[in-house]
Amino acid sequence: HDLWLQYAEITGDNLKNTYLDEIQSVTFSSQSETTGKAQEELQIAWRSFFGQELAVNTTLQNKALWLATEKELPKPLQQQLKTDFAHINEEGFLIKKLQFKGKAIMLISAKKEIGLLYGTFRFLKELQLHQPIEKIAITDSPKIQKRVLNHWDNLDRTVERGYAGFSIWDWHLLPELIKPEYIDYARANASVGINGTVLTNVNANSLVLSPQYIEKVQALADVFRPYGIQVYLTARFSSPVETGDLETADPLDPEVRKWWKNKADEIYQSIPDFGGFLVKANSEGQPGPNNYGRTHVDGANMMAEALAPHNGIVMWRAFVYSEDDPEDRAKQAYSEFVPFDGQFAENVLIQVKNGPIDFQPREPFHPIFGAMPDTPLMMEFQITQEYLGFSSHLVYLPKMFQETLETDTYTAGKNSTVAKVIDGSLSHKKLTGMAGVANIGNESNWTGHPFGQANWYGFGRLAWNPYLDSRTIAEDWLKMTFSTDEEFVRTVSDMMLQSRESVVKYMTPLGLHHIMATGHHYGPGPWVSNLSRPEWNPVYYHKADSLGVGFDRTTSGSDALSQYANPIQQEYENPETTPEEFLLWFHHLPWDYQMKNGKTLWFNMSSTYQEGVEEVQKMIQTWQGMKKFVDEQRFQKVSMLLQIQLKEARWWRDACLSYFKQFSKMELPENVPQPE
Ligand code: GCU
Repeated sequence: HDLWLQYAEITGDNLKNTYLDEIQSVTFSSQSETTGKAQEELQIAWRSFFGQELAVNTTLQNKALWLATEKELPKPLQQQLKTDFAHINEEGFLIKKLQFKGKAIMLISAKKEIGLLYGTFRFLKELQLHQPIEKIAITDSPKIQKRVLNHWDNLDRTVERGYAGFSIWDWHLLPELIKPEYIDYARANASVGINGTVLTNVNANSLVLSPQYIEKVQALADVFRPYGIQVYLTARFSSPVETGDLETADPLDPEVRKWWKNKADEIYQSIPDFGGFLVKANSEGQPGPNNYGRTHVDGANMMAEALAPHNGIVMWRAFVYSEDDPEDRAKQAYSEFVPFDGQFAENVLIQVKNGPIDFQPREPFHPIFGAMPDTPLMMEFQITQEYLGFSSHLVYLPKMFQETLETDTYTAGKNSTVAKVIDGSLSHKKLTGMAGVANIGNESNWTGHPFGQANWYGFGRLAWNPYLDSRTIAEDWLKMTFSTDEEFVRTVSDMMLQSRESVVKYMTPLGLHHIMATGHHYGPGPWVSNLSRPEWNPVYYHKADSLGVGFDRTTSGSDALSQYANPIQQEYENPETTPEEFLLWFHHLPWDYQMKNGKTLWFNMSSTYQEGVEEVQKMIQTWQGMKKFVDEQRFQKVSMLLQIQLKEARWWRDACLSYFKQFSKMELPENVPQPE
């Protein structure tokens, strides 16, 4: 329930005494709502760590923790810390042990109040990790500006692709009822630096823009503001029509432009720091500018114009694919968006999913990254496990996020990684962002699977710093959530880091993709072929027949490969130089194609499915050995869920292998059981 903010009691006498000796009181130079939250958090932590309050003093004492913004510091200290301040940005902070007027001080400072709150959480994390603090000297700043969760939450509280109960937003009882969960949600987000939340589903309902709902949104915005979290809404493109106000939503119509301008003004009246709109337009049946013969640029810029006077932004999604062009869905977003490079208004971010299809267990990076140097691009990861076993499978996603972020796009020469595109450093972007589709619901542990919390946590950490190692993140999370015991942390972080590869192995090895059963996307469904849109059918993606399997995206096929820079294009054109994890993403190959290990494609495919199953078996064993470190409730829950995961890994293996075997007509390797 307390997520990674457990603040487990610090028991070791030495450690406890050292901490209590180092920090004997706290002094706040600034009195704002945000520092009030820092104070609350310190007290929550102190009670929980040490069973006592932290004394608050108006005058600075020896061995005090001192929270002050840069400009509140006395001139000599400002001078002394000049280089540290030069290293941080507007949201950054510094934590430093220093001597001031003969007193030993633990200073948390920042340019703005929000930095003080981030610094406080960071300081508390050091204690959670049992780090020495005598000589602490940390400076840190986020590398990405807009670090937002996307809730796919509907107004009736169902959650699209949500597997942790219903929406946490209790619209019916807002604005009056402020649930404690909203505050805990804000604390958790602020603790990892998430500074924005889109409250509503991308498949949007225009009702949320009505005065009645704006009032409810305002109540949430008021709760989140002190935690540095801005609220955003999804804007349904046809809202001017659906509200009954206008007969068109044509973005070039002056009345429509005025409607959006007025709407923005109205929202900002109630929520002066409203973040802006997230828009899914002309995608999967959602209305958009194309309905009026206009472009994404026309649509996005119209909204941007309405929001600009208030410093709001538009996050315009590039997740588009249409029925009219069924040749290769993977190509469409690039084809539609890249020609618009440089044409979007300054306050528009184009939000791009990590891969070109749809949040698969493994995808190559989206070719738009690096291909629109004159447009700010924002990453969209999916934290909720739509295609990765929902909230019943243990899959540690930061490992997957990291894989995408550190991939080299080569678009501006070597070392043009996706992370550099996203943090703006590759082409000097002013506006930067990263979004994560939330896995949060009203389940008592927030995410359903206890390990789902790590994916929320890890997303936040990577949005703050996309260069972080997912191992460090896993270790930190485990220590704060379960136990700092070395053996526990080492064993379980190994298990987490391997879990992503396991799911790829038992669901979609060797570049297979989108072979989940249709609609819900849970279990296997490679045989599905009867849906109205070709690209909704798994057979469209694996193209298995008696000759082979895989999607040819080279020059002899859809040529989607041409959307990538060289050397990727050249290397992947040839199956022999294509990384094996992407083999069937880019090639249609015979069942007896010989792979690097000298064995056939069929042999490798079947044994990889088997490996996936065996790895889940191993996870079960590993977890069984961790009983002594984990409370009974969480231990049992994870154990039971792992049993489900094992059953379903076998289901995936058996279903896929028996389906593909009718084409390959080849024997299974000896160690792979015959599907029943
Ligand atoms: C996926 C998902 C949909 C979602 C869509 C989107 O296709 O299945 O539920 O609406 O992505 O990202 O817009």
